[in-house]
Amino acid sequence: QIVTKIEGKIAIDRWPKAWFEVTDNIQSKGVLLNSESRPGEAIKKALATAPHDSLAEIDKSGLRGCGGAGFKTAEKWKSCLLSDDNQRYVVCNADEGEPGTFKDRVLLNSYADLLIEGMTLCAYVIGAQKGFIYLRYEYQHLYKKLLETLQRRRAANLLGAHILNSELSFDIEIFMGAGSYVCGEESALLESLEGRRAIPRIRPPFPVTHGYLDKPTVVNNVETFCYAALIIEKGAENFSAQGLAGFTGCKILSISGDVEKTGIYEIPLGLPVKNVLNLCGAQSVQAVQVGGPSGTLITPAEFSRVISFDDLHTGGSFMVFNQSRDILENALNFTHFFMQESCGFCTPCRVGTKLIYDLADKVATGQGARLDLDSIKQLNHVMNGMSHCGLGQRAAEPLLETLEKFPEYFVKRMTDIEYQPSFDVEKSIQ
Ligand code: NAI
Repeated sequence: QIVTKIEGKIAIDRWPKAWFEVTDNIQSKGVLLNSESRPGEAIKKALATAPHDSLAEIDKSGLRGCGGAGFKTAEKWKSCLLSDDNQRYVVCNADEGEPGTFKDRVLLNSYADLLIEGMTLCAYVIGAQKGFIYLRYEYQHLYKKLLETLQRRRAANLLGAHILNSELSFDIEIFMGAGSYVCGEESALLESLEGRRAIPRIRPPFPVTHGYLDKPTVVNNVETFCYAALIIEKGAENFSAQGLAGFTGCKILSISGDVEKTGIYEIPLGLPVKNVLNLCGAQSVQAVQVGGPSGTLITPAEFSRVISFDDLHTGGSFMVFNQSRDILENALNFTHFFMQESCGFCTPCRVGTKLIYDLADKVATGQGARLDLDSIKQLNHVMNGMSHCGLGQRAAEPLLETLEKFPEYFVKRMTDIEYQPSFDVEKSIQ
């Protein structure tokens, strides 16, 4: 266990009604936050062998994308490498915007060398010469320090032309986001990086073949690049041996809410929720939101479920609510967040998020009726099928999941008869 002090602001400043304070307490039961990594070690090791050897090592480690979706990292890098066009790019998604996620902020602040090393390694594997760190606007206090790290690495011949006197030439630019949640979606991020309005692209094609400037691009999260560097430096086994119950590797969580110690926790994948709650000292827990508003709300009956990309997958957000919390207020908060962050491009999302919020607010303030809940379901059906990107498609989910798992919070506020889910959306649409 290590505890480190990190400078910086709280990370949930974009969240309209932040309940939870974020602390910089770091605890590790894994390999990254415990690591004493020396700048240049991973890249030195990689350069001593062929690029495909590094790719094979990443593959062997089982590393999966830590932004939340868990796509196999080696598969992504390989797809990019195999694309016809050989002008390729590496992009680090540091637009950590999921409410309740703040672990990338710590990695950017304290493990920037590892991140840059991971990006350089990726460049070596896929044959890229240029990379970008797309930095969340709210993390602008990290900009100067990151620039200094890039400078220091250039001076040490770890970045720039002929890295460590090899054939590899690669450099990185930092690009500041402008405070939009949707830029965390990789194709919107690429649009923004190209200087356009951040409207998500239709995928496929995926960035590995049509990314920055329509060229093959690897987009990975901060944490994924850090782990990739560590895997090359310390070996695939060091990482893959960490998982529990058949799962492979580690994951860093941002734990906030009603726990004794909020902060950044590195855990082995496959760890049950109840064990995570023990680690951070949580008592009389009513619910946990895993993966932010677009993730899953789980009740105590589900606390044996495990953190992994196959069960409860998360980009890092782990928010704990004790019995004193009004879970409907939380769902309302998430609904408000989605309304605010809708980019406005497509009508189902732009209008739908506002209608959903108004209905949820009506219910939460005790003026709702059963009809309003049915309207939310009907709107969800339209938004889910018609919205241009995941934001609109999933905007009503926190509310509906709360209704499903905690109906009592709705029932007690209803102005009409007790709520019985009676409305068949499919039939009504037909
Ligand atoms: P996705 O599953 O569509 O894609 C995941 C990654 O795999 C992407 O980089 C995509 O390009 C790549 N990919 C998928 N299929 C591919 C293929 N056939 N060939 C090559 N590459 C392929 O997931 P998406 O929509 O990119 O991300 C959703 C996740 O992001 C959610 O799980 C959510 O939890 C998370 N998220 C994280 C946030 C954060 O702050 N870290 C914020 C919001 C959402």
